[in-house]
Amino acid sequence: MANILQDARAKPEVVLGDFSEPNPLVTFRKEDIVFTYGSKWKQRYFTKIGRDYFVFPAQWDVRNRTWRRYYVREGADWWVVHYPADQMKRPTGPLCDGCHSTNYDVATGSVTEWNVGCEKCHGPGGAHVAQPSPANIVNPGRLDYVRAADVCIQCHSQGRPRSNPIRGRYYDWPVGYQPGRRLSTYWELEKHRLGQETFTHWPEGSAHKNRMQGNDYVTSVMYTRGVKCSHCHDVHGTPYNAETIRPGNALCLQCHGPRSPNGPRGSLEEHTHHPADSPGSRCVECHMPKIARTIADVYVRSHTFRFITPAMTEAYGVPNPCLLCHTDKTNRWAAVQLRKWKNFSPWRVGN
Ligand code: HEC
Ligand code: HEC
Ligand code: HEC
Ligand code: HEC
Ligand code: HEC
Ligand code: HEC
Ligand code: HEC
Repeated sequence: MANILQDARAKPEVVLGDFSEPNPLVTFRKEDIVFTYGSKWKQRYFTKIGRDYFVFPAQWDVRNRTWRRYYVREGADWWVVHYPADQMKRPTGPLCDGCHSTNYDVATGSVTEWNVGCEKCHGPGGAHVAQPSPANIVNPGRLDYVRAADVCIQCHSQGRPRSNPIRGRYYDWPVGYQPGRRLSTYWELEKHRLGQETFTHWPEGSAHKNRMQGNDYVTSVMYTRGVKCSHCHDVHGTPYNAETIRPGNALCLQCHGPRSPNGPRGSLEEHTHHPADSPGSRCVECHMPKIARTIADVYVRSHTFRFITPAMTEAYGVPNPCLLCHTDKTNRWAAVQLRKWKNFSPWRVGN
């Protein structure tokens, strides 16, 4: 998380996009790039005009190794109507930088550091550095479940500040929030209307787009039982994908398994109805399907942990995990299979 924004002038090798051949989308030169943004799924390019930064209108799709247009259309993010149509007139200060830097000052546009620094999650650290003590630093691990998740949700969500506009500008990040406080005082999560497909939500309420782990997770039973983002992720770094603290099913089996009151009952095979070593026995495949779009055909995992049934796909168009793997089958087929799985209620999964 520390490296999303990189200095293209100091380290030209951080630019992943291919500038070797002309491309009509690419209206700028490699030398014009001041910062790069992103490296895992997509990379966007920044230039500086006055005190503000602006994003060039082409982005590099890292997974598919191709250029794509970068332009936020009307009907997409809520803030579009408050800004000019010209991409190069939409400053990153109000629209991006609060989440991609530490201590962004809305009065001056200055930051104490780019990227997600310690203070973004631990609060002001000056006193702690001078005299280290647990009493003068926020430890998200000791906050109640709402405040602990809020530390992550300040960036991992789609929403808008309650106090917009601020100094005449519309911000897309929670200006004024500090770790340890309640984020809901500053920030409103994007609303969802049941049955309506929007830029942010599937009609049944799951996230439709990336950077919505917070919107999803607050609807989960685990959230209300006090499971924190940090029970599954160690943001200081781990050897595993998405900085999970354990790989694969081992992450979930810390708290779930045959003898756990949290369920599920029975052996792995009894629960999943697939052989233990099958992809169909991986918890995340059924409880965190990849249905939130990040760019083109690249999707990230849902964080509601709900099992999406074939009936929900029929009614609302949201993909269900069975058909994401069994692409040659129908929803009807999946519903019929699920009805045969006697440990689940047919009313809930097989209707
Ligand atoms: C993206 C958020 C985030 C960032 C950035 C971050 N931390 Fe943390 N840190 C956490 C969370 C969450 C915990 C609590 C983990 C737990 O125990 O549940 C934590 C715990 C810690 C602890 C352990 C406290 C204890 O009780 O033992 C230390 C030390 C720490 N962080 C230091 C740092 C330092 C130094 C940096 C900057 C280099 C940093 N952190 C950056 C989120 C963050
Ligand atoms: C200041 C904003 C900010 C905060 C606060 C924050 N994140 Fe992030 N997080 C980011 C950004 C930006 C990225 C993308 C980094 C990249 O692609 O290099 C990211 C990436 C991640 C990833 C994905 C890493 C990967 O390899 O795919 C995880 C997991 C994650 N964050 C979890 C958390 C958790 C848990 C917390 C709270 C303890 C948290 N984040 C707090 C901004 C933030
Ligand atoms: C509310 C906080 C927030 C705002 C505002 C925000 N981002 Fe992000 N951004 C994140 C987080 C968190 C991630 C990582 C998780 C994800 O991609 O779902 C991320 C990921 C990214 C990535 C992908 C990184 C990768 O490695 O693929 C890019 C590029 C990016 N942001 C650019 C921008 C730009 C440009 C803007 C402004 C138009 C912006 N962001 C506004 C929080 C934010
Ligand atoms: C730190 C412990 C912990 C971890 C780790 C954990 N869970 Fe949970 N999980 C819980 C608790 C507690 C509940 C609530 C049980 C209850 O109250 O019935 C729960 C509930 C659930 C539920 C039922 C939710 C519902 O809406 O009915 C699902 C599904 C679930 N967890 C899936 C997972 C998956 C998948 C993973 C791994 C990615 C995981 N859990 C990791 C503790 C954990
Ligand atoms: C093949 C798909 C599939 C896989 C893989 C899967 N589950 Fe489930 N899980 C379900 C279904 C279906 C339900 C029932 C949903 C309902 O009743 O709404 C369920 C329910 C649950 C529940 C809540 C109800 C209960 O039985 O206690 C928990 C907790 C749970 N799963 C955890 C896990 C964990 C942990 C893993 C990995 C070890 C896992 N699941 C793997 C399909 C799956
Ligand atoms: C119960 C465990 C659990 C909890 C709680 C949880 N996550 Fe995750 N998260 C995962 C798993 C598992 C993955 C996918 C890992 C993989 O695909 O290898 C993941 C992936 C991610 C990613 C990377 C995007 C992707 O889909 O690959 C981000 C970002 C993230 N989580 C952020 C968060 C934030 C923020 C919270 C709290 C609001 C949170 N997570 C809570 C288990 C959890
Ligand atoms: C991550 C991928 C994945 C998911 C998700 C998944 N399966 Fe499977 N499934 C498989 C694979 C692979 C096999 C072949 C058996 C093996 O793994 O050796 C299989 C086999 C089966 C079979 C037996 C063979 C057949 O085709 O008749 C049934 C029935 C089945 N799955 C039903 C389901 C249902 C219902 C769901 C949703 C609850 C589901 N699967 C979710 C991957 C998956």
